[in-house]
Amino acid sequence: MLNDIQEVLFDAETIQNKVKELGEQLSQDFEGRNPLVICVLKGAFIFMADLVKQLSIPVELDFMAVSSYGASTKSSGVVKIIKDLDVTVEGREVLVVEDIIDSGLTLSYLIDVLERRNAKSVTVVTLFDKPARRTVELEADYKGFSLPDEFIVGYGLDYAEHYRNLPFVGILKPEVYSK
Ligand code: PRP
Ligand code: MN
Ligand code: MG
Repeated sequence: MLNDIQEVLFDAETIQNKVKELGEQLSQDFEGRNPLVICVLKGAFIFMADLVKQLSIPVELDFMAVSSYGASTKSSGVVKIIKDLDVTVEGREVLVVEDIIDSGLTLSYLIDVLERRNAKSVTVVTLFDKPARRTVELEADYKGFSLPDEFIVGYGLDYAEHYRNLPFVGILKPEVYSK
């Protein structure tokens, strides 16, 4: 598995420091708001787990699974809800946790769903951002790192469901996905 990585972009410690910083900022900004923190499965599961441990305020957690990539490195453009939330978002301050924003399609779809369900507010935190790849206009409210346009894996991010368990984020060797 490690043989498939061309270069480590963010090691585990660098990621943890950033997650701590985001957690402290969010704890300040969401003080007294009892946010519903939503993990966008599957990619965000590790970031979500680490981030909520850095929150010093009361929160509720829920999980939603959406997918647009399937086993490809390109977005299909069609976002599917695979697992919906367990709770209603009406009147809630919602914090959406994503691992990465690429085209922006997944999040713009999700934000639209949450707003139509009358969330009181929808805030987005993403660990990674690839601004150069946007096809819809969308900015995260909080973000960790901006990335070059390389196919990256690890810390929740997959290629064909593999590599999510890497504790760091790295660039996948092109020969792995051009096979
Ligand atoms: C990935 C990633 C984001 C989304 C970003 O999810 O985790 O959710 O793509 O891409 P976009 O901005 O172009 O929509 P994916 O659909 O691969 O599902 P996964 O989280 O289960 O891997
Ligand atoms: Mn995802
Ligand atoms: Mg994926």
